[in-house]
Amino acid sequence: MLELNNVTKNFGGLCVLKNVSLRVEQGEFVGLIGPNGSGKTTLFNIISGSLQPDTGSISFLGEKVTGLTPNKICRLGIARTFQIPRPIKSMSVVENVMLGLLFGSRNSAPARREDMKQEALKYLDITGLRVDEWTMPEELTAAALRRLELARALATRPRLLLVDEFMSGLNTSEVFEASQVLKRIWQEMGITIIWIEHVMDSLMNLVERVVVLNYGELIAEGKPSEVSKDRRVIEVYLGEES
Ligand SMILES: Nc1ncnc2c1ncn2[C@@H]1O[C@H](COP(=O)(O)OP(=O)(O)O)[C@@H](O)[C@H]1O
Ligand SMILES: [Mg+2]
Repeated sequence: MLELNNVTKNFGGLCVLKNVSLRVEQGEFVGLIGPNGSGKTTLFNIISGSLQPDTGSISFLGEKVTGLTPNKICRLGIARTFQIPRPIKSMSVVENVMLGLLFGSRNSAPARREDMKQEALKYLDITGLRVDEWTMPEELTAAALRRLELARALATRPRLLLVDEFMSGLNTSEVFEASQVLKRIWQEMGITIIWIEHVMDSLMNLVERVVVLNYGELIAEGKPSEVSKDRRVIEVYLGEES
């Protein structure tokens, strides 16, 4: 479904991604881990078109997407959430999700505002966020804002969903609920997911395959049970304070 070939990205003198090659098959649930600053978010920025790679190429569903703008890539069926939630503060929560509907891929959004609102509420419901029509983003907790990010991404009707740190700052029961939400999106909606997360046990329990970045290089890849025994991965994580 998604193929990255030798993707490299430099910021000034800093090489943030080094020859990253990665394939993701349709229907997979892949975890992307690595210490802070290892290039995970940059990789999402490149896949979703908000940054261009210096070298290398990306294809999605057999089509080259390198160089396309973020909105074109979104229409092809790739959606992402942001590590730091970015709601439009002057719009209600429901309207924020309606934006996703308008931006989205494939089937066009409902024409009537009332239908769009119902559709937006449906996506909010999938993420477990219950609000009324008047709720504003500023009224939401950190956990709820992450759900709004996810609902807005789902509203674009993606085939591939890139989730950037859905669980940081959540308490134990919120982490459990959040993992159930991701599981439903993967299993019931059939959406392929790449998920960046620091809450390691939750990620390892849920995903089928883990990819590990360290200083911009892919250092390990495999089933969670294999990767958690990998010597290099253990070294990288034991060397990290958090
Ligand atoms: N737009 C940018 N300009 C300059 N440096 C950046 C930019 N975005 C990220 N970086 C740097 O690239 C490195 C990787 O960042 P990032 O991809 O956010 O890591 P991660 O998500 O794994 O924590 C960091 O050293 C970060 O400071
Ligand atoms: Mg990041």
